[in-house]
Amino acid sequence: MQNFLSILDLDPDRLTKLLESAARLKRDRDQGMKASTAAVLNGKHVGMLFEKPSLRTRVTFTIGVRELGGDVVEIPADVMHADREPIQDVARNLERWVDAVVIRTFGQDRLTQIAEIAPKLHIINALSNEEHPCQALADMQTLFERWGSVAGKRIAYVGDGNNVCASLVHAAMMLGAHVHVATPKGFELPDEVVDQAAEVSQQGAGLTEFTDPKAAVRDADAIYTDVWTSMGQEVEYTERKKAFRRYQINETMMALARPGALFMHCLPAHRGDEVSDEVIESPISVVFDQAENRLHAQKALLVEMLR
Ligand code: CP
Ligand code: NVA
Repeated sequence: MQNFLSILDLDPDRLTKLLESAARLKRDRDQGMKASTAAVLNGKHVGMLFEKPSLRTRVTFTIGVRELGGDVVEIPADVMHADREPIQDVARNLERWVDAVVIRTFGQDRLTQIAEIAPKLHIINALSNEEHPCQALADMQTLFERWGSVAGKRIAYVGDGNNVCASLVHAAMMLGAHVHVATPKGFELPDEVVDQAAEVSQQGAGLTEFTDPKAAVRDADAIYTDVWTSMGQEVEYTERKKAFRRYQINETMMALARPGALFMHCLPAHRGDEVSDEVIESPISVVFDQAENRLHAQKALLVEMLR
C-alpha cells in the first residue's frame, strides 16, 4: 500500500489482515529487540508533520517507528505556510530524504495533493478535517478484542458527523457492523461518506441516520462519541454547545443500550459536554484501550507499508 489517506484505501480482507497483525504486534511487544519485527524499518526515515495539536497520534507513531527499528524526523508545521514555499515543493523535498510522512492537517485535499506530487513518498493521514483512519484501525482492534468480530454488532455514534465518525463508519461497514449515527440537523455525515459506506458495506452491514440520539442508541452494543467542536472550529464552540445539548452520553443514554454495552471515545474528551464523567470513568469505558491500540494498529500499518 503506497498511501493510507483513508480507510477506503483498504478492502475488508486487507483491513482484517491488518487487525490480525496489530493483535500479534501487541502480543509480542514485550519481546522488545527480540521481536521478529524489531528491525523491519532499519534504515528508514519517517517524517512527522503536525499542523494541529496531538498527544496520542504523535506519541504512538514516534514509539511505533522506533520499536520497528526506524528513525523519526520531526518536521515543524511552519514549513507548510504557503507564503514560505508551495506545498508541492515541500513534498518534493521530503521525497528526496524520507520514506514516509505522517501528516495531520486541515483539508483532506492537502494530503491527496502531496501524494500526487511525490509518488515515491508514503503518506499516512494522521487526521484531516474529513477523516481519521488511524483512529478507526485502533477502534476496530479494540472491538475485536472484546467481541472477536464486529459483524452483526450495532455501533451507535452520537454527536458531530465529523472526521472520526466518517472513518468509523467506513471501517465498521467494511467489517459487517450496523452503524447508527445520530447528529443534530446541519451536522450530519457528508453525503459522500454515506455513499462510500454503501459501496464498501459487507453483507449484514448497514448505516441508519437519526436526529434523535435516544432512538440511535437503543439496543446498541457500543456507543461512540467525539468532541462537539473539532480542532479548527473553536470559534463555533458556543453555537455548537447549544446545538448538541441533547447529545451527551450519560448514564440515562447508556441505559438504553444493550446490557454490557461499551462506551467509546477517540479522546481528547470534554467531560460534561459530549460525555458525563460517570460514563467515561465507568468499567464499560474502553477509551484507554482505544488509545493503547493506536500504537499496535499503527505499527501494523507501518510494517505493511514500509517493510
Ligand atoms: N485521538 C487522537 O487522535 O488523539 P490526539 O489528537 O491526541 O492525537
Ligand atoms: N474530531 C476531533 C478528533 C480529535 C482526535 C478533531 O478533529 O479535533
